[in-house]
Amino acid sequence: MTQPRRDFLAQAAAIAAVPLGLDPLFRAVRGAPPLRADGAWVNAALARFSDVGRTPSGINRVAYSDADLAGRAFTLDLFRDAGLTPRIDAAGNIVARVPGRDARLPAIVIGSHVDSVTDGGNFDGPVGTFGAIGAARALLAQRVPLRHPLDVVCWQNEEGGTIGSKLAVGEPVDLDGVARSGRTVREGIGRIGGDVSRLAEAVRPAGSVACYLELHIEQGGTLDRSGTPIGVVLGIVGLKWFEVTIEGFANHAGATPMDQRQDAVLAAAKFTVAVNDAIRSEPGRQVATVGRVVASPNTRNVIAGQVQLTVDLRDLDAAKVARFATRFEQLGREIGAATSTTFTFREATSSRPAMADPRVMGWIESSAGALGLSTQRLPSGAGHDAQEMAQRGPMGMIFIPSVGGISHSPREFSRPQDVANGVDVLLNTIVAADRALDA
Ligand code: GLV
Ligand code: MN
Ligand code: MN
Repeated sequence: MTQPRRDFLAQAAAIAAVPLGLDPLFRAVRGAPPLRADGAWVNAALARFSDVGRTPSGINRVAYSDADLAGRAFTLDLFRDAGLTPRIDAAGNIVARVPGRDARLPAIVIGSHVDSVTDGGNFDGPVGTFGAIGAARALLAQRVPLRHPLDVVCWQNEEGGTIGSKLAVGEPVDLDGVARSGRTVREGIGRIGGDVSRLAEAVRPAGSVACYLELHIEQGGTLDRSGTPIGVVLGIVGLKWFEVTIEGFANHAGATPMDQRQDAVLAAAKFTVAVNDAIRSEPGRQVATVGRVVASPNTRNVIAGQVQLTVDLRDLDAAKVARFATRFEQLGREIGAATSTTFTFREATSSRPAMADPRVMGWIESSAGALGLSTQRLPSGAGHDAQEMAQRGPMGMIFIPSVGGISHSPREFSRPQDVANGVDVLLNTIVAADRALDA
C-alpha cells in the first residue's frame, strides 16, 4: 500500500520524538530481549474468576444469565484495573481502545470471551480475554508505543454461536433465537448493556481492522501430548448447527403393538447412529455431534410423540460442511419414512471456516522463538470469534495446552506457566504486527 508522503513524515516525526534506545518498541525492533507481561496478574484473575458462576456440576456462565452478568462485571473491573477504559458497544461486546500514534491507521484487535457452555470450565475464553487485557496492561505499564490503535475486546455470547463477533462484522444473527439461559438474543443484548435498535453502530467497517489476534486454550490434546507450549493455528473449522424436530405420535407403551408405533425416540436413535456412520464414512477431520436430545413427554410408559435434538457439524472445508448438511437432511427423510415420523430441520447457526494469515502465523512463531518457546502448527476444531473477525483483516490465533485435551468440561485446565507463556507471545505478536502492518 502506498502512503501519502505527508502521513509518512508525520509518522516519522512522531516516532523520532521518542529517544531511540529508551523506546521499548525500538528495543523490540532491534532484536533486544522480548517483552514480558505479568503472567501472575493474569493467573490471579483467572483464579478469582473460577468462583464466578461456579456450580457443583461445573462453571455455568451461559450467555445472558445472572452468572454471565457477574462475569462481565468482573471483566469490566479487570479492564479498569489494567488502566483501560471499557465501553459496551451496541452489540453488547466490551471494548477498550488504546490509542496509537497514528489515529488514521486501522486497529489491531485482540480478545476472546468469558461466557461458558453449560457445565463448562474456567479457561475456554477467559484465558484469551484476560490475556488480552494483560498484554494491553503490559504495553501501558512499559510505555510501549504502538502506531496502530489497539482494541481489547470481550465478545458476548461466543458459546451460543459467536454472536458478538458476528454482529461486529455484520453477519446475520437470529435475534429471536433462544440462548441456553432461556433468554432470546434480543433480550440478552439489552440485559448486558447493548441496544438492538443501534446494532449497525457495532459493525466494524471494511478496512477498519489491521489484524485480529486471539489467545485461547487448545481444547484438544495435540500440544499436551507433544509437550509443545505454543500452538499456531492454521485455520478454524466452519460449522453449522441444526435444530431438528421429529414428530411421532404419543401413545400407550403397553397397549400399542410394535408395528403400529410412531416412536420419535426410536427415530432419534436411528438418526444419531446414521449421522455418526455418515460422517465417518470418508477420510478427513470432519465431525458431527448429536448433542442435546429432548424427548416429549419423556416418561417411562408413553411412546415419545416428539423429540427435539441438535446437530453440530464442522470441517475446515465449507463445501464439505454443506454436502454433509444435505446428507443429514436426506437421512432424516429416509428414517422418517421408515419410522412413520417426520423430521424438520432448522439451521440455527452457521460460521464460515477461516484460515489464519501466514504473516500473522510467522509473527507468532518468531515471538515464541524469541521467548524460547517451541511451536506447532495445528487446525482448530473449536469455533472462535477469530473466524468471524477474519472477514475484516488478517487473523491469527495462539493456542496453549489443555491438560489431557479436555475442554467444555469442569475438568478443563491449563497450567499457569502455559497461560503466562501465551500472554507473552500475544504481547510480542502485537508489537510485531504493529511494526509490520501498514508500514
Ligand atoms: C465453541 O467453543 C465451540 O467450538 O462450540
Ligand atoms: Mn472459546
Ligand atoms: Mn467453547
